[in-house]
Amino acid sequence: MKKYLVIGNPIEHSFSPKLHNHWIKKNNIDAVYDKKQINESDIEPLIMEIKKNKINGINVTVPFKKKIIPYLDELSNEAKETESVNTIYIKNNKIKGHNTDVSGFEHSIKDLNINMCNKKVLIIGAGGVVSSIIFALNNMGLRKIFVTNRTREKAEDLKKFFRNLIIVEWGDVPDFDMIINATSVGLNENDQLELNLSKIKNKFFYDVIYNPPKTNFLKNAEVLGNKIENGKKMFIYQAAAAFKIWHNIQPEINNEVLKVLDI
Ligand code: ATR
Repeated sequence: MKKYLVIGNPIEHSFSPKLHNHWIKKNNIDAVYDKKQINESDIEPLIMEIKKNKINGINVTVPFKKKIIPYLDELSNEAKETESVNTIYIKNNKIKGHNTDVSGFEHSIKDLNINMCNKKVLIIGAGGVVSSIIFALNNMGLRKIFVTNRTREKAEDLKKFFRNLIIVEWGDVPDFDMIINATSVGLNENDQLELNLSKIKNKFFYDVIYNPPKTNFLKNAEVLGNKIENGKKMFIYQAAAAFKIWHNIQPEINNEVLKVLDI
């Protein structure tokens, strides 16, 4: 039986096992997908397990997407450019790292049939997932990408990799077509971003958070007549891309999958 894992800290909240085990069952694959809370010192022994074929693939989540890179032999272009790895596997005796968050985000936007070409986007936050979002947005041919973060230096750090970014002072809101909440604000139901977005109408609000399904950021935007989308599809598509890499099967994304996740 093949063995797959998602590692992170914390990991209790992860929906990845539910999703992968559903697809494993649907496709009659002899495998199991578990979650494991780890510390940094556990990374090396886990990589050894892959080398010995005791583990066949690993998904990586917060806070190890960058920390895991020195332990890998080869990175995909997406992983290299974003300095972020969420999917690991072995091929030709080499441990490979890939980043399916990029295609996950891109796919979730394409599903909505919104033409992003020449549009202006404001990203709120500069944490782990933001480099993947920027990479995907760059693929889509955006005109301007603004980033604002409570701690400005972290946004400035991103500019070293993505020179086209425009860093905006925390509290300022430039004119945009789409705004993305990539902070952790909203994970708790009562969380409110300290940004004044109360006059913004007819724009597109995207929240990377999918649990709760509607953060205050999205609720307030909806009341004002904006289009809204949460990060659920991004999550499902990144998982589907990892599944395809590991099993060479494109898993089906349908209502049953949405029901299995129950979010
Ligand atoms: P990491 O930075 O370890 O990757 P993350 O959860 O991916 O962690 O990122 C958290 C993001 O949410 C950061 O952009 C963080 O801003 P800071 O860089 O200033 O910490 C942002 N964030 C968290 N709490 C916030 C709050 N109360 N207001 C505004 N931004 C917040």
